[in-house]
Amino acid sequence: MQNNNLFNLEGRVAIITGGAGLLASEHALALTAFGAKVMLADVNDEKCRAAANLLQQQGADVTAAVCDVTSKQSWQDLLKQTLDTFGRVDILVNNAGFTNQSKTAGFTRGFEDFPLEDWNAIMNVNLTGTFLGCQVIGSFMVKQGSGSIINIASLYGVISPNHKIYPGTGITQPVAYSVSKHGVIGLTKYLATLWAEKGVRVNSLTPGGIFNNHEGLFLERFKQLNPAGRMSQKEELRGAIVYLASDAASHVIGHNMIVDGGWTAW
Ligand SMILES: NC(=O)c1ccc[n+]([C@@H]2O[C@H](COP(=O)([O-])OP(=O)(O)OC[C@H]3O[C@@H](n4cnc5c(N)ncnc54)[C@H](O)[C@@H]3O)[C@@H](O)[C@H]2O)c1
Repeated sequence: MQNNNLFNLEGRVAIITGGAGLLASEHALALTAFGAKVMLADVNDEKCRAAANLLQQQGADVTAAVCDVTSKQSWQDLLKQTLDTFGRVDILVNNAGFTNQSKTAGFTRGFEDFPLEDWNAIMNVNLTGTFLGCQVIGSFMVKQGSGSIINIASLYGVISPNHKIYPGTGITQPVAYSVSKHGVIGLTKYLATLWAEKGVRVNSLTPGGIFNNHEGLFLERFKQLNPAGRMSQKEELRGAIVYLASDAASHVIGHNMIVDGGWTAW
Protein backbone atom coordinates (compact mmCIF):
# COMPACT_ATOMS: atom_id res chain seq x y z
CA MET A 1 0.00 0.00 0.00
CA GLN A 2 1.28 3.46 -0.85
CA ASN A 3 2.04 5.67 2.16
CA ASN A 4 1.85 9.40 1.46
CA ASN A 5 2.38 10.26 5.11
CA LEU A 6 5.95 9.05 5.57
CA PHE A 7 6.94 12.24 7.35
CA ASN A 8 3.82 12.59 9.47
CA LEU A 9 4.60 13.11 13.17
CA GLU A 10 1.07 13.64 14.46
CA GLY A 11 0.55 12.13 17.90
CA ARG A 12 4.29 12.03 18.58
CA VAL A 13 6.13 13.83 21.33
CA ALA A 14 9.69 15.10 21.13
CA ILE A 15 12.20 16.26 23.74
CA ILE A 16 14.78 18.76 22.48
CA THR A 17 17.65 19.82 24.75
CA GLY A 18 19.68 23.00 24.48
CA GLY A 19 16.28 24.64 23.96
CA ALA A 20 17.48 28.19 24.56
CA GLY A 21 20.16 28.10 21.87
CA LEU A 22 20.41 28.90 18.18
CA LEU A 23 19.35 25.59 16.63
CA ALA A 24 16.81 24.06 19.03
CA SER A 25 14.04 26.39 17.85
CA GLU A 26 14.68 25.25 14.27
CA HIS A 27 14.38 21.61 15.33
CA ALA A 28 11.16 22.47 17.19
CA LEU A 29 9.65 24.32 14.22
CA ALA A 30 10.54 21.40 11.95
CA LEU A 31 9.00 18.72 14.16
CA THR A 32 5.87 20.68 15.10
CA ALA A 33 5.24 21.57 11.43
CA PHE A 34 4.81 17.84 10.83
CA GLY A 35 2.49 17.38 13.82
CA ALA A 36 4.72 16.62 16.83
CA LYS A 37 4.45 18.24 20.24
CA VAL A 38 7.74 19.41 21.74
CA MET A 39 9.22 19.64 25.24
CA LEU A 40 11.97 22.23 24.90
CA ALA A 41 14.52 21.82 27.70
CA ASP A 42 17.54 23.83 28.76
CA VAL A 43 19.57 24.52 31.89
CA ASN A 44 18.80 28.20 31.31
CA ASP A 45 15.18 28.36 32.41
CA GLU A 46 14.50 31.99 31.55
CA LYS A 47 15.95 31.86 28.02
CA CYS A 48 14.23 28.55 27.32
CA ARG A 49 10.84 29.94 28.35
CA ALA A 50 11.44 32.95 26.11
CA ALA A 51 12.31 30.66 23.18
CA ALA A 52 9.21 28.53 23.83
CA ASN A 53 7.06 31.67 23.96
CA LEU A 54 8.35 32.80 20.58
CA LEU A 55 7.65 29.37 19.10
CA GLN A 56 4.14 29.31 20.58
CA GLN A 57 3.50 32.70 18.93
CA GLN A 58 4.34 31.00 15.63
CA GLY A 59 1.73 28.32 16.35
CA ALA A 60 4.12 25.58 17.48
CA ASP A 61 2.95 23.22 20.24
CA VAL A 62 5.93 23.70 22.56
CA THR A 63 6.33 23.55 26.35
CA ALA A 64 9.45 24.74 28.18
CA ALA A 65 11.22 22.66 30.83
CA VAL A 66 14.40 22.93 32.88
CA CYS A 67 16.99 20.20 32.44
CA ASP A 68 20.69 20.05 33.23
CA VAL A 69 21.81 17.31 30.84
CA THR A 70 24.81 16.47 33.05
CA SER A 71 22.51 15.27 35.86
CA LYS A 72 20.77 11.89 35.67
CA GLN A 73 18.17 13.08 38.19
CA SER A 74 17.43 16.07 35.98
CA TRP A 75 16.82 13.73 33.00
CA GLN A 76 14.52 11.58 35.15
CA ASP A 77 12.58 14.71 36.17
CA LEU A 78 12.35 15.75 32.51
CA LEU A 79 10.99 12.33 31.52
CA LYS A 80 8.37 12.54 34.26
CA GLN A 81 7.39 16.08 33.31
CA THR A 82 7.10 15.08 29.63
CA LEU A 83 4.91 12.07 30.45
CA ASP A 84 2.77 14.16 32.84
CA THR A 85 2.34 16.85 30.17
CA PHE A 86 2.00 14.83 26.97
CA GLY A 87 1.56 11.21 28.09
CA ARG A 88 4.37 9.82 25.89
CA VAL A 89 7.78 10.43 24.35
CA ASP A 90 8.77 9.28 20.86
CA ILE A 91 11.66 11.49 19.75
CA LEU A 92 14.76 12.71 21.60
CA VAL A 93 17.02 15.36 20.07
CA ASN A 94 20.22 15.54 22.14
CA ASN A 95 21.17 19.04 21.07
CA ALA A 96 22.59 20.77 24.19
CA GLY A 97 26.23 21.69 23.96
CA PHE A 98 28.98 24.11 24.76
CA THR A 99 29.61 25.93 21.50
CA ASN A 100 31.07 29.15 20.22
CA GLN A 101 27.81 30.80 21.35
CA SER A 102 27.82 29.29 24.87
CA LYS A 103 31.50 29.06 25.76
CA THR A 104 33.21 27.79 28.89
CA ALA A 105 35.66 30.27 30.48
CA GLY A 106 38.74 28.77 28.80
CA PHE A 107 37.03 27.84 25.50
CA THR A 108 39.36 29.95 23.38
CA ARG A 109 42.65 28.72 24.86
CA GLY A 110 45.02 26.76 22.61
CA PHE A 111 45.67 23.03 23.00
CA GLU A 112 49.01 23.37 24.78
CA ASP A 113 47.49 25.06 27.84
CA PHE A 114 43.85 24.08 27.45
CA PRO A 115 42.46 23.98 31.02
CA LEU A 116 41.44 20.60 32.40
CA GLU A 117 38.31 22.23 33.90
CA ASP A 118 37.18 23.29 30.42
CA TRP A 119 37.96 19.86 28.96
CA ASN A 120 35.83 18.27 31.71
CA ALA A 121 32.99 20.79 31.39
CA ILE A 122 32.73 20.43 27.60
CA MET A 123 32.97 16.63 27.69
CA ASN A 124 30.39 16.61 30.48
CA VAL A 125 27.73 18.52 28.55
CA ASN A 126 28.44 17.45 24.95
CA LEU A 127 29.17 13.76 25.54
CA THR A 128 28.10 12.70 29.05
CA GLY A 129 24.88 14.72 28.66
CA THR A 130 24.10 12.78 25.48
CA PHE A 131 24.96 9.49 27.21
CA LEU A 132 22.61 10.28 30.12
CA GLY A 133 19.81 11.37 27.80
CA CYS A 134 20.09 8.14 25.83
CA GLN A 135 20.24 6.14 29.06
CA VAL A 136 17.16 7.70 30.69
CA ILE A 137 14.92 8.50 27.71
CA GLY A 138 16.26 5.73 25.45
CA SER A 139 15.67 3.07 28.11
CA PHE A 140 12.07 4.29 28.40
CA MET A 141 11.73 4.02 24.61
CA VAL A 142 13.13 0.49 24.68
CA LYS A 143 10.43 -0.53 27.19
CA GLN A 144 7.86 1.23 24.98
CA GLY A 145 9.22 -0.63 21.94
CA SER A 146 9.58 2.47 19.76
CA GLY A 147 11.46 5.74 19.48
CA SER A 148 13.89 7.81 17.47
CA ILE A 149 16.97 9.42 19.00
CA ILE A 150 18.88 12.10 17.08
CA ASN A 151 22.22 13.07 18.58
CA ILE A 152 23.49 16.39 17.29
CA ALA A 153 27.14 15.92 16.40
CA SER A 154 29.32 18.27 14.33
CA LEU A 155 31.56 18.47 11.33
CA TYR A 156 34.36 18.40 13.89
CA GLY A 157 33.15 15.03 15.15
CA VAL A 158 33.87 13.65 11.66
CA ILE A 159 37.05 15.49 10.73
CA SER A 160 39.43 17.81 12.55
CA PRO A 161 38.78 21.53 12.50
CA ASN A 162 40.87 23.16 9.82
CA HIS A 163 43.26 24.96 12.17
CA LYS A 164 44.33 27.38 9.43
CA ILE A 165 41.01 29.24 9.21
CA TYR A 166 40.93 30.54 12.80
CA PRO A 167 44.03 32.70 13.46
CA GLY A 168 43.12 36.40 13.49
CA THR A 169 39.36 35.76 13.46
CA GLY A 170 38.55 35.68 17.19
CA ILE A 171 36.94 32.26 16.68
CA THR A 172 38.42 28.97 17.93
CA GLN A 173 37.54 25.30 17.97
CA PRO A 174 38.88 23.76 21.16
CA VAL A 175 40.11 20.19 21.38
CA ALA A 176 37.35 19.08 23.75
CA TYR A 177 34.63 20.20 21.33
CA SER A 178 36.00 18.07 18.50
CA VAL A 179 36.76 15.06 20.70
CA SER A 180 33.36 15.19 22.41
CA LYS A 181 31.59 15.23 19.03
CA HIS A 182 33.66 12.27 17.78
CA GLY A 183 32.41 10.56 20.96
CA VAL A 184 28.79 11.45 20.19
CA ILE A 185 29.08 9.69 16.82
CA GLY A 186 30.68 6.66 18.49
CA LEU A 187 27.95 6.53 21.15
CA THR A 188 25.34 6.76 18.39
CA LYS A 189 26.72 3.68 16.60
CA TYR A 190 27.01 1.71 19.86
CA LEU A 191 23.37 2.35 20.82
CA ALA A 192 22.03 2.07 17.28
CA THR A 193 23.28 -1.48 17.03
CA LEU A 194 22.33 -2.35 20.61
CA TRP A 195 18.72 -1.21 20.17
CA ALA A 196 18.19 -1.92 16.46
CA GLU A 197 15.87 -4.86 17.20
CA LYS A 198 14.06 -3.06 20.02
CA GLY A 199 12.28 -0.52 17.82
CA VAL A 200 14.50 2.38 18.91
CA ARG A 201 16.49 4.01 16.11
CA VAL A 202 19.57 6.02 17.05
CA ASN A 203 21.21 8.32 14.50
CA SER A 204 23.32 11.43 14.56
CA LEU A 205 22.95 14.66 12.63
CA THR A 206 26.09 16.56 11.73
CA PRO A 207 25.64 20.23 10.93
CA GLY A 208 28.41 22.13 9.18
CA GLY A 209 29.12 25.75 10.05
CA ILE A 210 25.82 27.56 10.60
CA PHE A 211 25.72 31.22 9.66
CA ASN A 212 25.17 33.36 12.74
CA ASN A 213 26.23 36.85 11.64
CA HIS A 214 29.78 35.71 10.95
CA GLU A 215 31.82 38.25 9.06
CA GLY A 216 35.30 39.27 7.92
CA LEU A 217 38.26 36.94 7.56
CA PHE A 218 36.56 33.87 9.02
CA LEU A 219 33.59 34.12 6.66
CA GLU A 220 35.83 34.66 3.64
CA ARG A 221 38.05 31.68 4.47
CA PHE A 222 35.04 29.48 5.25
CA LYS A 223 33.36 30.30 1.95
CA GLN A 224 36.55 29.46 0.07
CA LEU A 225 36.76 26.06 1.74
CA ASN A 226 33.12 25.07 1.39
CA PRO A 227 32.10 23.57 -1.98
CA ALA A 228 28.73 25.35 -1.62
CA GLY A 229 30.61 28.66 -1.24
CA ARG A 230 28.71 29.66 1.89
CA MET A 231 27.82 28.67 5.45
CA SER A 232 24.57 26.77 6.15
CA GLN A 233 21.43 28.64 7.08
CA LYS A 234 19.98 27.31 10.34
CA GLU A 235 16.70 26.45 8.53
CA GLU A 236 18.62 23.97 6.36
CA LEU A 237 18.70 21.37 9.14
CA ARG A 238 14.92 21.11 9.29
CA GLY A 239 14.52 18.47 6.58
CA ALA A 240 17.11 16.18 8.13
CA ILE A 241 15.54 16.41 11.59
CA VAL A 242 12.07 15.55 10.29
CA TYR A 243 13.44 12.73 8.14
CA LEU A 244 15.41 11.08 10.96
CA ALA A 245 12.51 11.48 13.42
CA SER A 246 9.88 10.06 11.08
CA ASP A 247 8.91 6.69 9.61
CA ALA A 248 10.54 7.82 6.34
CA ALA A 249 13.78 6.73 8.07
CA SER A 250 12.36 3.48 9.49
CA HIS A 251 15.41 1.46 8.38
CA VAL A 252 17.98 4.21 8.95
CA ILE A 253 19.96 3.09 11.97
CA GLY A 254 23.38 4.24 13.19
CA HIS A 255 23.66 6.77 10.39
CA ASN A 256 25.48 10.08 10.67
CA MET A 257 23.63 12.48 8.38
CA ILE A 258 25.91 15.30 7.28
CA VAL A 259 24.43 18.67 6.26
CA ASP A 260 27.53 20.73 5.50
CA GLY A 261 27.37 22.11 1.96
CA GLY A 262 29.95 19.48 0.92
CA TRP A 263 32.74 20.46 3.37
CA THR A 264 33.58 16.82 4.16
CA ALA A 265 33.27 15.68 0.53
CA TRP A 266 36.60 17.00 -0.74
N1 LIG B 1 25.78 26.41 15.43
C1 LIG B 1 26.64 25.70 14.70
O1 LIG B 1 27.32 26.21 13.79
C2 LIG B 1 26.79 24.23 14.97
C3 LIG B 1 27.57 23.48 14.08
C4 LIG B 1 27.73 22.12 14.32
C5 LIG B 1 27.13 21.54 15.42
N2 LIG B 1 26.39 22.28 16.27
C6 LIG B 1 25.79 21.62 17.42
O2 LIG B 1 24.39 21.87 17.45
C7 LIG B 1 23.95 21.92 18.81
C8 LIG B 1 23.20 23.23 19.02
O3 LIG B 1 24.07 24.28 18.70
P1 LIG B 1 23.65 25.79 18.89
O4 LIG B 1 24.39 26.54 17.85
O5 LIG B 1 22.19 25.93 19.00
O6 LIG B 1 24.35 26.08 20.30
P2 LIG B 1 24.03 27.22 21.37
O7 LIG B 1 25.30 27.46 22.09
O8 LIG B 1 23.32 28.36 20.74
O9 LIG B 1 23.00 26.50 22.35
C9 LIG B 1 23.38 25.47 23.19
C10 LIG B 1 22.39 25.42 24.34
O10 LIG B 1 22.79 24.34 25.22
C11 LIG B 1 22.49 24.77 26.53
N3 LIG B 1 23.23 24.01 27.53
C12 LIG B 1 24.53 24.14 27.88
N4 LIG B 1 24.80 23.34 28.92
C13 LIG B 1 23.66 22.68 29.23
C14 LIG B 1 23.29 21.72 30.21
N5 LIG B 1 24.18 21.27 31.12
N6 LIG B 1 22.03 21.24 30.22
C15 LIG B 1 21.11 21.69 29.32
N7 LIG B 1 21.39 22.61 28.39
C16 LIG B 1 22.64 23.11 28.34
C17 LIG B 1 22.85 26.25 26.54
O11 LIG B 1 22.21 26.91 27.63
C18 LIG B 1 22.37 26.71 25.19
O12 LIG B 1 21.06 27.21 25.25
C19 LIG B 1 25.18 21.78 19.68
O13 LIG B 1 25.31 20.44 20.12
C20 LIG B 1 26.31 22.14 18.74
O14 LIG B 1 27.53 21.54 19.11
C21 LIG B 1 26.19 23.62 16.07
